[in-house]
Amino acid sequence: MERQRLDKVIASSGKFSRREVKQLVRQGRILVDGAPACSGEEKVDPEAAEILVDGERLCYRRYTWVMLNKPAGVLSATEDGRGKTVLDLLPEELRRQSLFPVGRLDKDTEGLLLLTNEGRLAHDLLSPRHHVDKVYYARTSGCLTEEDRRAFAGGMTLGDGLQCLPAGLEILSAGTEGSEALVTLREGKFHQVKRMLAARGKPVLYLKRLRMGNLTLDSALGPGEYRYLTEEERSILQNLENKTDEIQMLPKKGRDFC
Ligand code: URA
Repeated sequence: MERQRLDKVIASSGKFSRREVKQLVRQGRILVDGAPACSGEEKVDPEAAEILVDGERLCYRRYTWVMLNKPAGVLSATEDGRGKTVLDLLPEELRRQSLFPVGRLDKDTEGLLLLTNEGRLAHDLLSPRHHVDKVYYARTSGCLTEEDRRAFAGGMTLGDGLQCLPAGLEILSAGTEGSEALVTLREGKFHQVKRMLAARGKPVLYLKRLRMGNLTLDSALGPGEYRYLTEEERSILQNLENKTDEIQMLPKKGRDFC
């Protein structure tokens, strides 16, 4: 692999900023192939070199993956003159890694948003061809019914002609004051959950994404908080496609709505 600056390689782990690496080098706390590093500017092959920080082997990753619990009021964009973006919620070290959101959530939608700099896999996760279900918790006005569930399952055609793929609607509670449901989509058209529910006369009052494929939003993350994906989650990502053509509903243990 192409040789890169040591400080860049270490910073890409997300644990240290380049400035911190400089200090670690000065303090002799970084070993490269057994010898103390002389400078953050020295070039190393990140895949071949053994890099130890305080005796701990650095796990080099070419790409970064982060799970964010997106709060309402923030745009799913890398930059936008109109307001705060999800990138503004991340620290400097991550902002420097050219991360972008994997798909979009509306400004007022909360929940699971992945950010990465791995373009090909991000593209696959979003492609309807790859059958990655997205599960949303929705609170609506009006009373959701079995008829609504059947309309979702049958593949709705919206008023503007948009043909939707069959989708899941699991009604959690329903009454004249409003309803709660889990909506499962296999595609991600503009405002799709809101448009489908509005077309049934049950407009969305609150929306949160809980899951993408087998990856569930970490319930320990408060709104605006993020964390790196674990090794296990990264391997799940490589294999995110559903193994069935059926829409998968969220298992009970993975439910954490709002
Ligand atoms: N569907 C919507 O309507 N909004 C979102 O943010 C995501 C899915």
